Amino acid sequence: MCGIIGFTGNINAKEVLLQGLKALEYRGYDSAGISFFTGTGIKTIKAVGKVAGLVEKTVMSDDDTKCGIGHTRWATHGGVSEVNCHPHHFGKVTLIHNGIIENYKELQEELALEGKEPVSQTDSEIAAMVIDSYYKSDPVSAIKKAVKKLRGAYAFCIMFTDHPGSIYAIRNGSPLVATTTGAGSIIASDMVALIKYSKDYFVLPEHHIAHLTASSINITDLDHNEIEPDMLHVNWDMAAARKGGYEYFMLKEIHEQPEALRNTISPRIKDGMPDFSADGIDDSLFKDINRIIIAACGTAMHAGLIGKNMIEKLSRVPVSVDIASEFRYQDPVIDENTLVITISQSGETADTLAALRLAKERGAKTLSIVNVKGSSIARESDYVLYTHAGPEIAVASTKAYTVQLAAMYLVAFRFAYIKGKITEDKTKEFIKELEKTPGFVEKMLSCDKAIEPISNKLLKTESLFFIGRGLDYALSCEGSIKLKEISYIHSEAYAAGELKHGTISLITDNVPVIALATQEDVFAKMISNIREVRSRGARVIMITGADAQVDAALCDHLITLPPVSDVFAPFGAAIVLQYIAYYTAVARGLNVDQPRNLAKSVTVE
Ligand code: G6P
Repeated sequence: MCGIIGFTGNINAKEVLLQGLKALEYRGYDSAGISFFTGTGIKTIKAVGKVAGLVEKTVMSDDDTKCGIGHTRWATHGGVSEVNCHPHHFGKVTLIHNGIIENYKELQEELALEGKEPVSQTDSEIAAMVIDSYYKSDPVSAIKKAVKKLRGAYAFCIMFTDHPGSIYAIRNGSPLVATTTGAGSIIASDMVALIKYSKDYFVLPEHHIAHLTASSINITDLDHNEIEPDMLHVNWDMAAARKGGYEYFMLKEIHEQPEALRNTISPRIKDGMPDFSADGIDDSLFKDINRIIIAACGTAMHAGLIGKNMIEKLSRVPVSVDIASEFRYQDPVIDENTLVITISQSGETADTLAALRLAKERGAKTLSIVNVKGSSIARESDYVLYTHAGPEIAVASTKAYTVQLAAMYLVAFRFAYIKGKITEDKTKEFIKELEKTPGFVEKMLSCDKAIEPISNKLLKTESLFFIGRGLDYALSCEGSIKLKEISYIHSEAYAAGELKHGTISLITDNVPVIALATQEDVFAKMISNIREVRSRGARVIMITGADAQVDAALCDHLITLPPVSDVFAPFGAAIVLQYIAYYTAVARGLNVDQPRNLAKSVTVE
C-alpha cells in the first residue's frame, strides 16, 4: 500500500528511483512522483497514473542527481491528482509517506492558527508541515519532536533542502527495509526494490531514525543511542522479481507453484514426519493447546478456512477462522491454551498485525505463517513458519495461497500426531501424499488449454456463483475473490447446501455456476445441488475428482483432476480456479497484475 524508495550514492539516482518504483508499483499505482537534489535545490516530478507516465516525464529532465526519494501511491486521503501525489514539500522539508496519519485534521487546525495551509488534501502533507514547524537545522531533532505529535501508521523518507545528499527515514507500523552497497545507500518499502543491489538487508526498527548518506546508514533510537540493525538475507534474486517472458506476473507465479511448494514442504520433513525444529518450534507449543483461532485477511483468510477443516478433522480441537479486521474489535475469548495462527503473505497487513498484537496481549500463544522474511508479523509472533514462495508481485495471490495451504497441512498433521489423534504411520502416509503435491500441481498446470476456452465464454457474464461443500466451499471462497478482483465480474461463493435459502433466486437461464465436487463424502449431496441449479437454467462448470461418475447432462464443462486423495484435491482445484480468473481477466482485456482500486499489501486499517 504505497511504495516508497530513497537512494543516495554515486550512481544516477533517478534511474534507481524509477526502477525501484516500477518494482514497487504493485503496492499502489494511482500516481507516482520523485524528488531529487540538483545543483540548485530539490526538484520534483509527478504524474497521475502508472509509473510509466512518470518515467516519460522524467526522461525530459536532464538534471544530474545522486540523491532522491520516490513514491507510488494508493490513495487514502485525497483523490487521485497531481497535487495529492507524493513527494510533498513544505518549507525545507520534502517527504514521502506510506500509512495514515489519523489526527491530521487536528494538526491541520493547529497549523492553520499559525497561518499555514496545505495545498493538497493529504494527511502526508500535514506530516511534512509538522516536521518543518520543528525544523531549525537539525533533522533528527525535528523528526523526533514531530513524530510525538503524529498518531497513526507511517513510513517516511524525508529530505531537507539544506542537507543535500542525506535522506532521513522513520517508521511506525508501515514497513521499510534498507541496505548499503558499493553504489550507495537505499531504503524502500520492500525487498523487490533492493534486490538488484543486494541480497542482504535490514528492517528499520520501528521508532528509530535512519540517516542515509552515500557511504553508510546510521540508525539511532529516539534517545540518540546508535544501534546496529540485524542483517537478513534473501535466497531469491532479480529473476524472481521479473516477469521472465510471461505476459503477467500472475501467470508466472501460477507456474512457480510446484517449486514454491517444494521449498515450503521439503525442509519440514524429517524421517518421513512433519518437523519444525529448524523453525525453532518444538512440540511443547502444541501440547496444551485446546483451541485454535486463525486470523487473516483476503486470500490468506481463505487458506485459513482450509486449515480449519484439516485441523479439526484430524485433531478434534476446535478451530475458528476470523477475518482479522473483525477479530481485533470482537473482544475475543482467549487464554494461554489458545493458539492464534495469523497467516499473511506480506507479513505487514495492518489488521492481521493488530489481531496478532491483541492475541499476545490476551495471553495466547502465537504462530504466524508468513512469506516475507523479517516482516512485522513474523517478527512479532512467538513462532513463525516461513512459506518459501519467493516474491509475489501480482496483486492477486496465487503461489502464496498454495504454500499457505501446505504450511497449514504440515501444522495439522503434526498437531494431530502430538494430540495422539493420528498414529505415526498415518502421519507418514499423509506426509508422503503432501510430498507429491508439487508434482500434482505441475500436472495441473497443463489444464490451461481446457480452461482458456471456458473463460472466453465467461467474457460477458455479469454475475456468477461458486458452490461447494467442506473443503470445496473453502476453495469456492478463494475462487470467487480471485475472479472478482481481477476480472471485475460480480461473483459469490456459496456453501452448496445453503444456496436454496435465498441465493437460488438469482439463478436463471445461463447464469454460470462453478461447482466444485472433489470430495467423495459429500459428492452425492453436491450432485443434488448441481441438479437444483441446472433445472433453473444455470450454465454449470464442474470440477471433480478423477473417479467421479458424472452424468453428461449435468454440466456444460467438466474439469477432472488427476488422481489424488480428497484431502489433497484443493491443491489441484486451486490451479483451476486461478486459471479461470486469469483467463477471464485476459479475455476482458484487463491489466491482470494491477486491478483497479486494489493494492498488494494493505498497511492501513
Ligand atoms: C490484499 C491483497 C490480497 C491479500 C490480502 C492479505 O487485499 O490484495 O491478495 O490476500 O491483502 O494480504 P497478506 O499479505 O496479509 O496475505
